[in-house]
Amino acid sequence: MSTPHARILAVETSCDETAVAVVEAGRRIISSIVASQVELHSPTGGIVPEVAARAHLRWMIPVLHEARTRAGIEDWSALEAVAVTEGPGLAGSLLVGITMAKTLAWSLGLPLVPVNHLEGHIYAAWLLDPDEPERPAPRFPLVALVVSGGHTFIVEMRDHLRYRLLGQTVDDAAGEAFDKVGRLLGLPYPGGPAIMAAAAASSAHDRRFPRAWLGDSYDFSFSGLKTAARRAVAEALGRSPDDRGLDGSALGRSDVAELAWAFQDSVVDVLATKTLRAARDLGARSIVVGGGVAANAVLRERIAAGAHGLGVPLLVPRPSLCTDNAAMIGAAGWQRLRSGVRAGRSLDARPSLKLAA
Ligand code: KG4
Ligand code: ZN
Repeated sequence: MSTPHARILAVETSCDETAVAVVEAGRRIISSIVASQVELHSPTGGIVPEVAARAHLRWMIPVLHEARTRAGIEDWSALEAVAVTEGPGLAGSLLVGITMAKTLAWSLGLPLVPVNHLEGHIYAAWLLDPDEPERPAPRFPLVALVVSGGHTFIVEMRDHLRYRLLGQTVDDAAGEAFDKVGRLLGLPYPGGPAIMAAAAASSAHDRRFPRAWLGDSYDFSFSGLKTAARRAVAEALGRSPDDRGLDGSALGRSDVAELAWAFQDSVVDVLATKTLRAARDLGARSIVVGGGVAANAVLRERIAAGAHGLGVPLLVPRPSLCTDNAAMIGAAGWQRLRSGVRAGRSLDARPSLKLAA
């Protein structure tokens, strides 16, 4: 039986995954359970907040039990702390996890540590799987790209928990663009993995969608690309781009594949180019990529090739640690615990919480 020393119990319910994990010393995953709501939300093609919150209530306790069983720890009061996502996210969803974490911390007599979901996506790069050999942690200063369903930004970190915003999206998040264009192409929800799969099947690689470079800033914009995709779908269907009922499911498979490829090529090009430029300009000693879109194989390859060229180590978690999970909250929670961050019983959901100004 393992000892719970230096282990944190972490809870994450900010969006549509109910997740609990036990993480040791901010790196080693002891157990990590994620109950996904993808099937629940696919008929509506997006998340309905009330439906998400109810599903968290349904799965919170079973997921907690499973994480505890898999961790094989008997004495839970010997854990170091309970960490929980306080924001950003959906208020009703966040509250389920926060209430669970508060109850656990209070009943076990443990400190409660609030974590920003976005720093969780960055700290996923520190995680080690249960059987994974030790490897060096990311080194500072580092440049981190966070690309999720709700956020897209680049930050510089010169030390733990210190974030300087270099650039962010001025309109849609990259994941949001994947989801919207996926819907436009008649692909299943969520759009990211569906577009990646469709694009991989494309043999036509000549179409070029626009890239919004926004001068030499590190900011992003995906709304023009979305409009370009819409125009291309309308043209292929012989309809007007203003047609509200524009539905790419009437397109042939090769057309969908070609458009998916061109869309992904544009998003990946901008994300990879700006991240690599930031790393070079700032003399980063490592590059970190996190968030659901970091599960994209083409983005991973593009940034890996560029980082190799720069001679800068790249850390991108395996795909299931890029999408929402509680292990990343345990990793960030450990650093926060060590720096003295604590929450009281008044801890509340912070749906619009920022990471850095
Ligand atoms: O980080 P995440 O799980 O949840 C948020 O915090 O938003 O990110 C979800 C987003 C969705 O927009 C989804 O379409 C996108 O990540 N995503 C992907 C891939 N897998 C998930 N986007 C591109 N390629 C993928 N393979
Ligand atoms: Zn997320």
